[in-house]
Amino acid sequence: MLACMFDLNAYMREKRHAIDRALDNHLPDSETRPRLLHEAMRYAVFAGGKRLRPILCLAAAEALENDTTRALIPAIAIEALHTYTLVHDDLPAMDDDAMRRGLPTTHIQYGEAHAILVGDALLTLAFEWMAQCRAPEPYLPNQYALELAEAAGSRGVIAGQIEDLEAEGEDANADRLDFIHLHKTAALIRCATRIGAIASGADAQQLEALSEYGCRIGLAFQIADDILDVTATTDELGKPAGSDEKNSKMTYVTLLGVDGARKKATQLIEQALHDIASIGTDTTRAPLVALAQEMIQRNH
Ligand code: IPE
Ligand code: IPE
Ligand code: MG
Ligand code: MG
Ligand code: MG
Repeated sequence: MLACMFDLNAYMREKRHAIDRALDNHLPDSETRPRLLHEAMRYAVFAGGKRLRPILCLAAAEALENDTTRALIPAIAIEALHTYTLVHDDLPAMDDDAMRRGLPTTHIQYGEAHAILVGDALLTLAFEWMAQCRAPEPYLPNQYALELAEAAGSRGVIAGQIEDLEAEGEDANADRLDFIHLHKTAALIRCATRIGAIASGADAQQLEALSEYGCRIGLAFQIADDILDVTATTDELGKPAGSDEKNSKMTYVTLLGVDGARKKATQLIEQALHDIASIGTDTTRAPLVALAQEMIQRNH
C-alpha cells in the first residue's frame, strides 16, 4: 500500500493565502492617515515573508482540533509582531542591513524615523488583535496577550536581541549563544505553537509537548539561519548574506562550524518530533512533522 504523502508545499501555500488575506483585512489601509506610515507598515508586512510562525500556530491548533478559525487572528498578531522585530533588527543601530524579504529594508525605503515608528505600530497592533480574542477555558480570557507579552518582552525576544548585540566581537560561548538564540528566536516560535495549542483547548500535557516542540524547532531554525548566512546567496535569502560576519556576531557557525551546527540542528528536530509523538493522530500531526523538517531543510 502506498503511504499517503503529506504535501507541505500545498499546505503552506493554502495557509499563507489565509494568513495574507486576514492580514490585509485587519491592517489599516494605506489611505488611512498618516498615509505614509500605513503604507510603510503594509510594505514591511507584505514584502513576502515565509509566514512560518502563523503557519506553525495554525498547524499546532489543527493537530488537536479540526477547526482552526479561533487561531487565525492570534496567528496574524504573531506575524505582525515578528515583522516589527525584523524592521528594528535591520536598523543602522542594530544589524544595519539594507535588504529584507527581497526588497530594500523599511528604513532604506522610508527613512529611519518611519521604520522605528512602523515597528512600534506593528508591535502595538499585535496586542490590539490579541486583546480582541478570548482564549477558551480553562485558560484566562486574556491568555493570548499574556503569552505574547512574555515571549516578546525583556525576558523574551528583547533579551535575546540585546545580548546578541552585546556579544558582538566576543569569542563563541555555548551558554551565551543558547541564551541568545532561545530568546531572540525560539521564544516567539514557541509562543506560536503554544497559542495554537491554547486556541484548541489543549490539556496541560499537550500544551507542554507543543511548547517543547516549538522551543526546539525554534532553536534549530536560528541555527539554520546562522548556517544560511554563510552558505546561501543574498538572492536566495532575500536579505544580505554574510551579515553575521560583517557584524562579528556570535553564531552556531562560529561555535561549531557549519557541519557541527547542522548536526546540532538535526538532533533538535529529532527531539522535537519525539516531543509531539503522542499529539493528535498521524494525519493531524503530519503538518507539524513536515514543518519541523522544513525548519532546517529550507534554502532561505
Ligand atoms: C528571520 O525570520 C529572523 C530570524 C529569526 C532568523 P524568517 O526567516 O522567518 O523571516 P521571514 O518572515 O520569512 O522574512
Ligand atoms: C534576528 O536574528 C532575530 C530577530 C529579528 C528577533 P538575525 O539578526 O540573525 O535575523 P536576520 O538574519 O537578520 O533575519
Ligand atoms: Mg540580529
Ligand atoms: Mg539581522
Ligand atoms: Mg541571521
